[in-house]
Amino acid sequence: MNRGVTTEITKVDARAIKAAARILRDGGLVAFPTETVYGLGADATNGVAVARLYAAKGRPSFNPLIAHVSDLIAARHIARFNDAANRLAAFWPGPLTLVLPKNPGCPVTELATAGLETIAVRIPAHPVARDLLARFGRPIVAPSANRSGHVSPTDAQHVLADLDGRVNVVLDGGSTPVGLESSIVACIDNSIQLLRPGGLPRADLERALGHALAVEVAAINDGGEAPIAPGMLSSHYAPRAHIRLNADCVRAGEAVLAFGAKYPLGGQEAAMLLNLSERGDLVEAAANLFSHLRALDASGVASIAVMPVPFEGLGEAINDRLARAAAPRRSS
Ligand code: TXA
Ligand code: MG
Repeated sequence: MNRGVTTEITKVDARAIKAAARILRDGGLVAFPTETVYGLGADATNGVAVARLYAAKGRPSFNPLIAHVSDLIAARHIARFNDAANRLAAFWPGPLTLVLPKNPGCPVTELATAGLETIAVRIPAHPVARDLLARFGRPIVAPSANRSGHVSPTDAQHVLADLDGRVNVVLDGGSTPVGLESSIVACIDNSIQLLRPGGLPRADLERALGHALAVEVAAINDGGEAPIAPGMLSSHYAPRAHIRLNADCVRAGEAVLAFGAKYPLGGQEAAMLLNLSERGDLVEAAANLFSHLRALDASGVASIAVMPVPFEGLGEAINDRLARAAAPRRSS
């Protein structure tokens, strides 16, 4: 069904939200902005709709999805919160996903959780996501609205580039403010683990928890080992061009992804240059990361030289995504 549907792209108003909620109720797919990246949404309780979503993304079906809900009551209905989860829920609505034990009465279809006993839950902060969730009244599962293996979309045109003809409607809410996917923390029994660094810096999470956070991010060279957040395949964010990290010079024919005011680097002149943040601001850099990677890749260069980005704050998640973009491709 999703190959060859007519994709409508629409500005957001009350009518568009109402129409989008109807599409979800009918088992269709709606792409919508969240504060992190655009999501490809389906009715979490409808197995057929979720199957369509996997097909549209071209995503391996063992990869579980995040259930987006409108408030804590809905979140507590589908998952069990321990002490740590209760503390971290203070960041909601916001760029945080909690992986928690699924509640017995959880209405989310097994397909969406890939048969796991746990479920990923998030209350997004973006007004369009919130309006859609409120209007729809059920959980919405939404992976990032890109084809599997591509970088996450941070504006409506990115969504169209990947999913035109595969999604019924794209709600155009402009550029997403954070630009990186949510941070994912698993709170299961006594084990609290950071599964994916993301839009909420680790220091904020640790302050709320009152202790340091163990990292269980899938190793960059995971060599086929099942990652803990199963979607964290090393090549998950792969652009077409070769990515050369920590570059301190430009080689012939290369494009440059810069950070800070240090450019120009030594060496050749860049085929194309984009700066994540000239003033060295990591929040601005996160918001620009995926759109700059897309734009440099679209220029057709064979290689993109990436200048070093510091690891503090959102730099942890930025460096994680860059390392994945640079990792060798999987054949899947
Ligand atoms: O910011 C975001 O989180 C965006 C927006 C749309 O909300 N969504 C997003 O979804 O990034 P996705 O599907 O691209 O990434 C979700 C990650 C995947 O790596 C998946 O494997 C992991 O969450 N995940 C989902 N359920 C899980 C579970 N029960 N246990 C461990 N990891 C899980
Ligand atoms: Mg994704």
